[in-house]
Amino acid sequence: MEANAAKRKEPRKALRVKVISMGNAEVGKSCIIKRYCEKRFVPKYLATIGIDYGVTKVQIRDREIKVNIFDMAGHPFFYEVRNEFYKDTQGVLLVYDVGSKESFDSLDSWLAEMRQELGPHASLDNVVVVVCANKVEAGRARAVDESEGRLWAESRGFLYCETSAQSGEGIQEMFQTFYSALLELCENGGKRPAGGAGIGFTREQADAIRRIRSSKDSWDTLGLKPGATREEVSKAYRRLAVLLHPDKCPAPGSEDAFKALGSARAALLKNIP
Ligand code: GTP
Ligand code: MG
Repeated sequence: MEANAAKRKEPRKALRVKVISMGNAEVGKSCIIKRYCEKRFVPKYLATIGIDYGVTKVQIRDREIKVNIFDMAGHPFFYEVRNEFYKDTQGVLLVYDVGSKESFDSLDSWLAEMRQELGPHASLDNVVVVVCANKVEAGRARAVDESEGRLWAESRGFLYCETSAQSGEGIQEMFQTFYSALLELCENGGKRPAGGAGIGFTREQADAIRRIRSSKDSWDTLGLKPGATREEVSKAYRRLAVLLHPDKCPAPGSEDAFKALGSARAALLKNIP
């Protein structure tokens, strides 16, 4: 009995995880980390030169986690330095600036850079990725709204959090969510738990919402070529409306996409004899 009790009290070894930050230059990667670790914000831009490294210890549930953070420079100039650091990563802070569409559009190329360095057989299934939509404090113009960012992240099985390193909002919650997911990953033998599969919407739905959002006119919204008949308009509408009906499709942005479908159908039918 006593031996067992002593065994139970023995502290479990701290987990060690490797985290990297990725995203375009100036989106706020270093400031997010600084806000979390040092509780302060520096308004002046000090570009990271190559890589900054730091270690922090956190307690999540009953486990101590030793987090090794590699804060990467976003500037293309530092590619040669960055590419040494992708391997053996368990967690990624993938950051964009909600005021910069370009930084959001670059997220895919950041994943591509990581995949390229990890090699053709590596999979992101054993990495926790949290997408940080940064600089969300009040009064700042947004070029990317929440549903667009969330859709991008969740359709890939990534976490999504809104943060402001300047005001501090969302930072604690984001790291808490991120580290909890990292602990689950470690306790699940290094594989991301199946949560991503339970997002409740399909890739087809996510792609349709994205396509509708960036469509240039009503034809495009319904995925038709100009000159289509009334029947073709109705058929295309029906197919997409069933796919994206907000009661059936929980994907972020489905309500707006559904409304856009209705408006596109009405506008086209008005003009087709
Ligand atoms: P690189 O190291 O060059 O890749 O850039 P980075 O992504 O690390 O950006 P950094 O954290 O250095 O921040 C870039 C600029 O954005 C700085 O001037 C910061 O003060 C500013 N910044 C960072 N976070 C926020 C934020 O939440 N809101 C606002 N308004 N500015 C921010
Ligand atoms: Mg930096």
